[in-house]
Amino acid sequence: MSATPFSLLIRQARILLPTGDFLVGDVGIRDREIVQVAPDLGSVPEEVLDAEGLTLLPGAIDPQVHFREPGLEHKEDLLTASCACAKGGVTSFLEMPNTRPLTTDQSTLDDKLGRAQQKCLVNYGFFIGATSACSPDLLSANPTPGIKIFMGSMKGDLLVDQSEVLERIFATGRRPIAVHAEDQARISERRQLFVGETNPAVHSQIQDSQAALNATVQALGLSKKYQRRLHILHMSTGVEAELLRQDKPSWVTAEVTPQHLLLNTSAYEQLGTLAQMNPPLRTPQDNQVLWQALLDGVIDFIATDHAPHTLEEKARGYPNSPSGMPGVETSLPLMLTQAMQGRCSIAQVSHWMSLAPAKAYKIPNKGVIAPGYDADLVLVDLNSYRPVRREELLTKCGWSPFEGWNLTGWPVVTIVGGQVAYDRGNLRKEVRGQALTFN
Ligand code: DOR
Repeated sequence: MSATPFSLLIRQARILLPTGDFLVGDVGIRDREIVQVAPDLGSVPEEVLDAEGLTLLPGAIDPQVHFREPGLEHKEDLLTASCACAKGGVTSFLEMPNTRPLTTDQSTLDDKLGRAQQKCLVNYGFFIGATSACSPDLLSANPTPGIKIFMGSMKGDLLVDQSEVLERIFATGRRPIAVHAEDQARISERRQLFVGETNPAVHSQIQDSQAALNATVQALGLSKKYQRRLHILHMSTGVEAELLRQDKPSWVTAEVTPQHLLLNTSAYEQLGTLAQMNPPLRTPQDNQVLWQALLDGVIDFIATDHAPHTLEEKARGYPNSPSGMPGVETSLPLMLTQAMQGRCSIAQVSHWMSLAPAKAYKIPNKGVIAPGYDADLVLVDLNSYRPVRREELLTKCGWSPFEGWNLTGWPVVTIVGGQVAYDRGNLRKEVRGQALTFN
């Protein structure tokens, strides 16, 4: 044993325990791992973090992000995105395949993993994208959390909207399938009804609730037919949530974004095209039903769908403006603010943003503060409120749909694999995360 038993000691934090209770105490970390949690660990290691007054949570895992590298680095890259993650308390992310080139085989996956190893301050995993060609790499490429299928809202090779192809993908292999569930045929048809419309609010009418429901029904049917592990990405409508409440096989999970919980079609008035995303924002009634589904466990966890586009791109005007909004810097404080306002508990937020995605994608040793777990942690301040300010954002796109929202629970220190990656406004850019594994 070394002279001091810990490489990092967090002193006197309000620690979220696996039971959901809090303990004011110390967390001892050796290298990448939590080794002890106790009221007072006493000894003095090389690095001590005084956490008095702060709350210690497992680092957030964001299971759906678009980080744009390679090929679209003018919007974001793995360094800027992972800095934003560290600042937002996100210690692991799962990234989507719609980069350039598309991530559809082992070599494009390896390229992303290599880039992340060079640049990422937090832990990383990358989905493999399905195409109509059904490459054998879909089943063999490693490591990946699963196969991403864009059933709609996508152009080019990643759009997989033919029933026969979907059937083949669901029928072949066992790895998890994550779907962007929107019915492309319905969207294309409805787009014709709104030709010439430049008000971005029509986006929610073109890509309507029925388009989302149709695709979710189809994916659920295929998942049941083949007993294939299915994850429904960014569920946006009350009707989908109610469908799932009636009929959710044990191998199906679903997620919701903070924006689908907290924003609705009224946001277009103030935000214009900044409120444009896929699937679109819905009604206040949808917000309510989604919240209830999350509280009841019908929806399993939260993802941001961080999808940065530049302000210039957003300024092109509807329908030429791209869909998507950033999220990794604001998701944890947004949800913790909801908890502090009594809408849910801190333990629930932590479950939805750490343990539940870890379990769903079988990422080992994450999401719990206990000996033997990875030291991916975030200290948050639940005692003060601060607004989301554009000038403080680290995402390269430089804006947030939540600007001006007064939030609590902002990360103060973020720890990735036992190393401090973010500390009171300062990034330690030399810190590197690791490639996630999926058991
Ligand atoms: O709004 C969206 N934008 N939804 C998606 O699923 C993709 C994303 C993007 O990559 O811009």
